[in-house]
Amino acid sequence: MAIKSKKVWGGRFDGETHKQVETFTASIHFDRRLASYDVAGSIAHARMLGKCGLLTGQEVEAIVQGLTEIAEEIAQDRFHYDAALEDIHMHIERRLIEKIGDPGAKLHTARSRNDQVALDLRLYLRDVIRNVREQLRTLQGVLVRQAETHLGTVMPGYTHVQRAQPVLLAHHLLAYFEMFQRDRERFADCLGRVNVLPLGAGALAGTTLPIDRAYVAKLLDFPQVARNSIDAVSDRDFAIEFLSCCALLAMHLSRQAEELVLWASAEFAFVDFPDAFATGSSIMPQKKNPDVAELIRGKTGRVYGALASLLTLLKGLPLSYNRDLQEDKEPVFDAADTIQQILEVLPPMLLALSFRPERMREAASSGFLNATDLADYLVRKGVPFREAHEIVGRIVRECLETKERLEDLPLSRLRRYSPAFGSDVATFISLEACVERRRSEGGTSSRLVGEAIRRGKRMLRQP
Ligand code: ARG
Repeated sequence: MAIKSKKVWGGRFDGETHKQVETFTASIHFDRRLASYDVAGSIAHARMLGKCGLLTGQEVEAIVQGLTEIAEEIAQDRFHYDAALEDIHMHIERRLIEKIGDPGAKLHTARSRNDQVALDLRLYLRDVIRNVREQLRTLQGVLVRQAETHLGTVMPGYTHVQRAQPVLLAHHLLAYFEMFQRDRERFADCLGRVNVLPLGAGALAGTTLPIDRAYVAKLLDFPQVARNSIDAVSDRDFAIEFLSCCALLAMHLSRQAEELVLWASAEFAFVDFPDAFATGSSIMPQKKNPDVAELIRGKTGRVYGALASLLTLLKGLPLSYNRDLQEDKEPVFDAADTIQQILEVLPPMLLALSFRPERMREAASSGFLNATDLADYLVRKGVPFREAHEIVGRIVRECLETKERLEDLPLSRLRRYSPAFGSDVATFISLEACVERRRSEGGTSSRLVGEAIRRGKRMLRQP
């Protein structure tokens, strides 16, 4: 029997669809990005139908051949799109029927667009997650390299954006390494839940036909098959989880970007952006702006927005599939694109940054960053910490008035505050000594940071 209507669901309908309805309901302008996944899913489905006796071997071959050609047409931009065909699934199916006739019309046996679209999105996210994880590995590799370069660079560590205690720049950079490591682990964990086959759920209840879901799972390399058909077509928690991972990652990226913006200011002058990663002003000739870092910070908003969209989209939906779910794709695509764009530009930029060790050191030398160490000195001589804190506080106050640094005070003046001060105090509170003494696990001493670098390299070799 020839198929008369243009719409795959046209049989039940007498009248034409209103033009505005076609435009309003169409998703082809964004879901065409899923074409290659849709084809891969359909090929696996067709092979399974063949194996189960629902298609002949010849029919399967015709379908596979036809779909392969369609994939090429799409890749080479020779494919014709038409809003009347709603989405990518119908476009491909229609084209297949046009090309090969009856066998093409059998492809949708034991399948619904509801399980099909869930499959496509999962296949797409699987690829994105794998790519993001590799990009994160590259970023972490750059952080390790910069840390190696700056194992000897002392900088002020901050709390409340106030100079607090001296740390190694390497230690500071490796803090981001750890954040991105957790991000990479989170995406791996998310992948485990994305990597579940929904196909075979049918519209919602399964199918009356004898299919083999395990076989499709094997062909498409899914370690698991969705256990409940209603769940399989209803939920998008896997996409929300992906967006949560993206939001957390974007937050980390944004913090680092913000710090680079601050550090590039004349007030800090801790870092120079190379020309290749900076931009100028259209009015102020002297300006060199860190726009890349600013945009990384700025793009975080849309990633958070995508997460909020999808959570809101899902919260009121009764089971199972609802057309609302078509709205899941744009936020997912946008967040995935944004994150991947950031992770493309950030590693080469980080690698090209020139940090300014002399400026960092200078900043670490004023502001009494060794005050805690001076108190610790007294603690080692038996003074209770609270008392030591009070004593050093008073010494700092005197130094603020006389514009001196703690390490410049002669012993005789220190002893006015406490008899516990001895001749070894000046070397005890030198910048290097303050850094090197922080040998508690996870601390900033160069030996520990050196170990952290080696450990980081080992972590990067793990999947
Ligand atoms: N374009 C649809 C989506 O993205 C595909 C599934 C449509 N299913 C349906 N029953 N209308 O969700």
